[in-house]
Amino acid sequence: MSPAENIKTPCQKKPEHSTPRHIAVIMDGNGRWAKSRGQPRIMGHRKGAEAVRRIIRLCGDEGIEHLTLFAFSSENWQRPPREVKLLMELFISVLEKDIDALVENGVRLRIIGDLDRFGKRINSLIKKAEMRTACNDCMQLTIAANYGGRWDITQACRHLADKSSRGEIDPKNIDEELISSYLVSDGIPDPDLFIRTGGEKRISNFLIWQLAYCELYFTDILWPDFSKENFSDALQWFAGRERRFGKTSEQVSA
Ligand code: IPE
Ligand code: IPE
Ligand code: MG
Repeated sequence: MSPAENIKTPCQKKPEHSTPRHIAVIMDGNGRWAKSRGQPRIMGHRKGAEAVRRIIRLCGDEGIEHLTLFAFSSENWQRPPREVKLLMELFISVLEKDIDALVENGVRLRIIGDLDRFGKRINSLIKKAEMRTACNDCMQLTIAANYGGRWDITQACRHLADKSSRGEIDPKNIDEELISSYLVSDGIPDPDLFIRTGGEKRISNFLIWQLAYCELYFTDILWPDFSKENFSDALQWFAGRERRFGKTSEQVSA
């Protein structure tokens, strides 16, 4: 199978200085969206998939380089088995039907998380989708699936300890950069803007290492309702932040 079967479309727009390079999103509120309409939770997840297509387009229009979406957490296996089963079916359907649109729009797809738990069918669809989009360079879409920030740090520690015990790494040389390179997000810059819909003000074991200096934006809007206007509001809020990274405001403006 050839990794680069697509004829690339030119990327839409160069990002402005005040535009985040990487946006990470906890897409929360699907269940409540459905419940408020007297519908089963899966209807909220299906509507949520439409909001996923929308935000990918919007990020493309804004020239965002990286979009990371939290689709399924390592804790979400604890949900009722029927909801988990339907979510897996939705994941399969997206991997089967939505990849053409990513190819057409120059979006590179990467899935991060503990993928072993998904079994052969999903893993083979993931591999195929990643290969088909591997040469796209307008935007990278990263989907976190069976992802947990603590799992990510733990697997990095395990690999580092293993290499160290084999004498391939000197523990003295373990620094933040090396640890980052062992996380599953290796090669992806840390998020600049984090968006969580659905009203909860927590990180829920998302990219806990990578979010260390991210700007955190929380909105009550439920994920299926997250619109172009809501996205613009988040970008506008971000543009007004002063990112000091430990320095004083005077140092930053100088
Ligand atoms: C987020 O929406 C989607 C997943 C976790 C898969 P929820 O399903 O958590 O929706 P609420 O929080 O119950 O409304
Ligand atoms: C976080 O949402 C995970 C995803 C959006 C995939 P949850 O709805 O599972 O988070 P908690 O458990 O309420 O914190
Ligand atoms: Mg939730």
